[in-house]
Amino acid sequence: MQAGMREELLAALRLQLDWGVDEALEAAPLDRFAAPPPPPAELPRPAPRLAPALPLVAPPAAAASALAAAAQDLAALRAAIAETDSPLRDTATNLVFADGVAESGLMMIGEAPGADEDRLGRPFVGVSGQLLDRMMASIGLERSRNFYLTNILPWRPPGNRTPTDGEIALFLPFLLRHIALVRPRHVVLLGGTPAKALLRAKEGITRLRGRWHRLPTEEGSLPALPTLHPAYLLRSPAAKREAWSDLVLLRRTLDGEITPP
Ligand code: URA
Repeated sequence: MQAGMREELLAALRLQLDWGVDEALEAAPLDRFAAPPPPPAELPRPAPRLAPALPLVAPPAAAASALAAAAQDLAALRAAIAETDSPLRDTATNLVFADGVAESGLMMIGEAPGADEDRLGRPFVGVSGQLLDRMMASIGLERSRNFYLTNILPWRPPGNRTPTDGEIALFLPFLLRHIALVRPRHVVLLGGTPAKALLRAKEGITRLRGRWHRLPTEEGSLPALPTLHPAYLLRSPAAKREAWSDLVLLRRTLDGEITPP
């Protein structure tokens, strides 16, 4: 076995231990001779609606709102973000727009790029991104096939500080337009910042996580699952158990076993 693959397998095994796995058994007996369940039916996607975004933001973000509403595809949206004036744009190196498969039906939204993302122009490529990829792989999902990733902010805040309310308000119309263009069936919110901004919730992430919420969109609402941010899990490994139960909820929902409210 190649050294790289061995390291990858060991890292996946370590993650299972962190999840709290201490038995190689399922909680319930598994009938391996039973026929596999049929794949979930593809939901027909309604034709894209080209109307402007809802007026969700205060006047300082009005120009951003108009620019976002005018973007008719992801390339136009990316260009609109790039031309929007922001002090963050002056200090960052690269615009971090998105990664993964836009048509996958699953959109994951993080907080903001860190140093590695800023350097490479792709979201979740640093250590927390690597943990995220391993977590998703543990429920059989790969970034190159099964999900799409973006952030609340497209530019790195200096020193990785938490985004301010003003920065979030400025870029929120772009994110809402991003969601409208991608048309996911499910959204996962990574950490408190996207959960609070998009669910307009007052509670913290520990109260919000672990159940499906409705995320208001241009066309109505979408099921959204807030969960713990991988960077938090790196600092607090004991919380990986909660993250694991959220991943199981996600997997069971994607499999059609659970229907979000
Ligand atoms: N943390 C995030 O929230 N987003 C990234 O892209 C990287 C780290």
